Order: sequence, then C-alpha cells, then structure tokens
Amino acid sequence: MLRRHAGVVSALWLLSLITKVTSSTLGVRASGVCTLTASGSDDAPAFLEAAADPSCLTVTIPAGTTLSIQSKLNMTGTSNKHLNVEGTIKFNPDIDYWADNAFSFDFQDQIAFWLLGGKNIIMDGGGTIDGSGQAWYDAFAKDSSTLRPILLTIFQATNVTVQNIHMINGPEWINFVNEGQDITFRNINISAVSTSKNDAKNTDGWDIFRSDNVVIADSNINNGDDCVSFKPNATNMLVSNLSCNGSHGISVGSLGQYAGEYDIVQNVLATNVRMSNAQNGARIKAWAGKGVGAGLVKNITFDGFVESNVDNPVVIDQCYMTSADDCAKYPSNTYIQDVWFTNITGTSSGKEKATVASLSCSPDGRCTDVNVDDISVTPPSKYGAAEFTCQNVELGGDAASLFGTCKTTG
Ligand SMILES: *[C@@H]1O[C@H](CO)[C@@H](O)[C@H](O)[C@H]1NC(C)=O
Ligand SMILES: *[C@@H]1O[C@H](CO)[C@@H](O)[C@H](O)[C@H]1NC(C)=O
Ligand SMILES: *[C@@H]1O[C@H](CO)[C@@H](O)[C@H](O)[C@H]1NC(C)=O
Ligand SMILES: *[C@@H]1O[C@H](CO)[C@@H](O)[C@H](O)[C@H]1NC(C)=O
Ligand SMILES: *[C@@H]1O[C@H](CO)[C@@H](O)[C@H](O)[C@H]1NC(C)=O
Ligand SMILES: *[C@@H]1O[C@H](CO)[C@@H](O)[C@H](O)[C@H]1NC(C)=O
Ligand SMILES: *[C@@H]1O[C@H](CO)[C@@H](O)[C@H](O)[C@H]1NC(C)=O
Ligand SMILES: *[C@@H]1O[C@H](CO)[C@@H](O)[C@H](O)[C@H]1NC(C)=O
Repeated sequence: MLRRHAGVVSALWLLSLITKVTSSTLGVRASGVCTLTASGSDDAPAFLEAAADPSCLTVTIPAGTTLSIQSKLNMTGTSNKHLNVEGTIKFNPDIDYWADNAFSFDFQDQIAFWLLGGKNIIMDGGGTIDGSGQAWYDAFAKDSSTLRPILLTIFQATNVTVQNIHMINGPEWINFVNEGQDITFRNINISAVSTSKNDAKNTDGWDIFRSDNVVIADSNINNGDDCVSFKPNATNMLVSNLSCNGSHGISVGSLGQYAGEYDIVQNVLATNVRMSNAQNGARIKAWAGKGVGAGLVKNITFDGFVESNVDNPVVIDQCYMTSADDCAKYPSNTYIQDVWFTNITGTSSGKEKATVASLSCSPDGRCTDVNVDDISVTPPSKYGAAEFTCQNVELGGDAASLFGTCKTTG
C-alpha cells in the first residue's frame, strides 16, 4: 500500500493508519515522500506506482516493514528518485511464477526479478533485499534446468548509486549491471548461503555487462560464485575495499566465448581486496578453441589483494575450457594486454599443491605486457616452497623471476 505524506503531517499519517485512507484520497504532500506499507498480499503494484510517480521524490519502505513482491518489478525509465529502503523488500519464492514471468536476457539465459533503470537514482536506507533463495537452491539441486532470477538488475541506467543495503538469499546472481553508466555500489553486505545440503550456486556478487564507469566499493560478500565478474564490454571499472568470502574471486571474463562477437574489458582497477576461502583470487579467463569469439582485455590492475585459503590466488587462463591440443591449434582470439598483478599476499589452500600462481596464455603471442610485482603467497607448509607457473608469455616486474622461463606450446 502506498501513502504519500509530508514529514510534518504525522497526525494525518496516523489517521491514515486508523482509517486506511488510501493514496488516492490522501494525495501528495509537498515533501514528496511516499511511504509504503505491507498490504498482506502482493506489494509490487504499489511499489511500482510510487516509483513511477514523479511527485514521489522519495519512496520509503519504513524499518519494520516487509514488502512482499509477488510479481515482477519493471522500474526501467525511473528518474530523479530516492528509494529509501529502511525495511525489507522480499521476493516471493513462487518458482513457477518467476519461471514464466521474470524478465529474461539472451545473455547467458538469465532471468530477473527487478529491472531498475533510468537516471539519477539513489537506493539506500540500511534495509534489506531478500531473494528467498533457499527454495531455488533446493530446486536447482533437483533440476539444473530451473531458471533462477537475478536479485537486482540495473538496466539501461545512468547515474545510479546503491549504498547501505543488505542483499540476502539471492537465488542466483545478486547484482547485474547491464547497459549502464556511472553506477556506484557502496557499503553493500551480500550473503547468499544455503541452509540445506544444496549449495547456493552461481550467486555472483556483481556481473557487469556492456557498461561503463562502475564503482563497487566498501562491501562484504559471502557467496558461492564470482565476487565480481567483468563480462563483455565492461570498461572503466573500479573495485575497492571488498571482503569476499567463499567466492570464485574477482574475475575478468570469461570472454570470447560466442562466435561472431567481440568482447572488450578495458581499464579495470581492483584494489584493496580481502579474498578468503575462495576458488580464485585475481583472475582473467578467455576462451580458445574452434568456433569461439574474439575480444580484447586491456589495462587491468589487481593491486593489494590479501588472500587466505584460496585455491588459485593469481590466474590467467587464455585456454579456458579448451584442451591443450585445441588451444595450440586454435589459440584464443581474445588478446590480453597491459596487465598488472601487484602486491598480492597471503596463503593458498593447497588445492593446487605448491602452485600459487598460474599465468597461462594461448600460443602465438596473445598475451603482452603482463607484469607481476610484490607477490608473496605461500601454500600450506606440507607442500613446500611456492611454485609459480607460466605459459606463452613474457613476464615483466620484480616477481617475474619467481616464474622462471615460461613454457611455450603450439
Ligand atoms: C518496462 O516498461 C517499459 C514502459 O514503462 C516498457 O517500455 C518496457 O518494454 C518494459 N520492459 C520489459 C522488459 O518488460
Ligand atoms: C546523479 O543523481 C543524483 C541523485 O539523484 C543527483 O543528485 C546528481 O545531481 C546526479 N548527477 C548528475 C551528474 O546528474
Ligand atoms: C556487514 O558484513 C560485515 C562482514 O561480514 C559485518 O562485520 C557487518 O556487521 C555487516 N554489517 C551489517 C550492518 O550487518
Ligand atoms: C572499507 O569498507 C568498510 C565497510 O565494509 C568500511 O567500514 C571501511 O571504512 C572501508 N575502508 C576504507 C579504507 O574506506
Ligand atoms: C566464509 O566462507 C566459508 C567457506 O564457504 C564458510 O565456511 C564460512 O562460514 C564463511 N565465513 C563467514 C564469516 O561467513
Ligand atoms: C563491445 O563493443 C564493441 C565496440 O563498440 C562492439 O563492436 C561489440 O559488438 C560489443 N560487444 C558486445 C558483446 O556487446
Ligand atoms: C588504465 O585503467 C585505469 C583504471 O581504470 C585508468 O585510471 C587509466 O587511465 C587507464 N590507463 C589508460 C592508459 O587508459
Ligand atoms: C599492499 O596491500 C595491502 C592490502 O591492500 C595494503 O595494506 C598495503 O599498504 C599495500 N602495500 C603497498 C606497498 O602498497
């Protein structure tokens, strides 16, 4: 239910509670604050109405209020809006409804609960977006064709800030930025953890696609897939001051998968990242093999990573999902240039025994200007001294000697 009121007319607001005065009779007050209450049924229509109403400059979900979202939220074309989420926005886990009605993207067959787009939008308030993911974690374990909605999709947007928000129980990806520019996330706590034996799979913290100038900062992520992933055409990206736990790392790619497409990831800085209990730390992955796509990964810096119990702390894989023979025959068409791994410290898990860094490029000079400086990562002591491996690349930087002469293939 939607109530529009001025901050000062609290008596009227109280009256509205008692008499259930509706938005249409209460009208709009000068302050432009519209407050939502839980209706006991689907709260999506009232939320949509408030977001679409230009006189609701601020849409407040008060602390203690949980909106039940039982139908999809198309908030594209929103402008000059403050979504003040002090309470909770909770998506109803009706798996069949969402399978049939969620927004869908061709890109990796994704579906979404909520599209937020337009311009000049702030969402904050210290509240929670809850995806009720457990139902999907369990359904997906039984049937891996189950479609699982992305929690929040920033779609076709310019100048959006999302800050001081908890995002919990996302069924799949938590944040997707698709065709956006000037998008900032700060102070976000993400938790996607299963309470059953079925893992919370593919719960990427952020996936960035066809977007420019995105900042992801000062956040804590506890999830079961990439902490942040830069997908095709992510440019001018800043990741800073994140604590990622249980994830698959900060990942560029995978890129160059689809024939006929050209994928660019350029100007990325990921700095001051704590990466714990993860599959990867800092990673770049690009496809090779017959019939794949092409692309360019250029000017990528991973700086100031403190890793703890990470399977693969430092990774380039330019033969992603490709056998060594195929990679030799069909090297990656996604070229990798101007990469810095700087100040990376901590421990590996021992999953790769003594190996703590693996920089593996396609043959035929597809990686150039790859630099390693101040790398100090140790495996569990039972595996002895750390090993650093490389292939088809000439490394620069003060840690290059740790890698020795790189293997050449092809
Ligand atoms: C969302 O709503 C806008 C109009 O408000 C419409 O143009 C657009 O097609 C809708 N998007 C989707 C994916 O349904
Ligand atoms: C971005 O949006 C915010 C919040 O709506 C607004 O205050 C700011 O002026 C906008 N910035 C630009 C460059 O339009
Ligand atoms: C956010 O997460 C961090 C680390 O998990 C935790 O210490 C902090 O209390 C959380 N913040 C809130 C407001 O819950
Ligand atoms: C890093 O982010 C945390 C919130 O997760 C914040 O409390 C802290 O001040 C930030 N540190 C810096 C250096 O900005
Ligand atoms: C971090 O992740 C590990 C492995 O997934 C998990 O066991 C642990 O509980 C997580 N720690 C926190 C503080 O959530
Ligand atoms: C990425 O951008 C380039 C250059 O603008 C364009 O040619 C290409 O089609 C884009 N790729 C994708 C996947 O959007
Ligand atoms: C490389 O990327 C960084 C970080 O995004 C950016 O500040 C810098 O200007 C870029 N360098 C070039 C030569 O474009
Ligand atoms: C290395 O990274 C750590 C963690 O981000 C940071 O505290 C430290 O100052 C960095 N060291 C240098 C020399 O930049």
